[in-house]
Amino acid sequence: MIIIKLGGSVITDKSQYRKFNQERVSKLCKEIKDSGLEVLVVHGAGSFGHVLARQYGLQNGFSSNDQIIAAAQVQYDTRDLSQMIIKEMLSAGIPAVSVAPGSCFVMNNDKLIATDTEAIERLNKLGIMPVTFGDVVTDRTKGFGICSGDQLMEVLAELFDIKKVIFVSDIDGLYTADPKTNKGARLLGSVDPEMLQKIKSESGVDDVTGGVLSKVEAMLRMSTKNRDCVLVNGTVDGRLGALLRGETVTCTIARGGTK
Ligand code: IPE
Repeated sequence: MIIIKLGGSVITDKSQYRKFNQERVSKLCKEIKDSGLEVLVVHGAGSFGHVLARQYGLQNGFSSNDQIIAAAQVQYDTRDLSQMIIKEMLSAGIPAVSVAPGSCFVMNNDKLIATDTEAIERLNKLGIMPVTFGDVVTDRTKGFGICSGDQLMEVLAELFDIKKVIFVSDIDGLYTADPKTNKGARLLGSVDPEMLQKIKSESGVDDVTGGVLSKVEAMLRMSTKNRDCVLVNGTVDGRLGALLRGETVTCTIARGGTK
């Protein structure tokens, strides 16, 4: 089975609160369906989560009562987004059901813990894809916290037999420097822990490659000798589909992870 995260930058317009990219999601669902592969999808929250989360400091956990209505609103918004995605999946012929992460996971000081995964495992056995997503989830020490789709990917990759991991984002992959400001920036077709270390030391404190370094770190954690993790641009028509068909596409492959 392949696990795919549809990033918030692809499925939503991150600059506008609750703006869904319906056309893009519809195309990606068709590309997934046409691949004929067994796939598990996780999605990000994009502007359905990040806008209010930032405004109310939800990532820091509970600190004041006025955060509570925002924490509830985000969970409403992410469920709304998830249902829109499921609608596109069903239209493409993919049997899928949205499963809020708070129903089978809790966090402990930001670490995601799978507490009750029987239902999602049973759904998968039935041939119905359980779709989880980045959301506000309860936290044993902080009250609540932000569970990202990337964290869910790591936990689900342990729970299921996952042969390949794909992160669908709005960038072509990992560059040696920020391509927006540095003309000499090169796209890396593959990355290993040593190369990442080198880019990190050269890029200084700021994540100049556009917030992608921590994602690549997670990708390296998830990659094994037998499991590649790929970062691919989902805003380009057909690229995910080509990758799923095994074609060579513009992307970054994380190889030779820590396990
Ligand atoms: C974020 O999840 C969840 C919330 C902000 C509530 P992700 O981190 O997976 O979302 P994207 O992909 O960055 O939008």
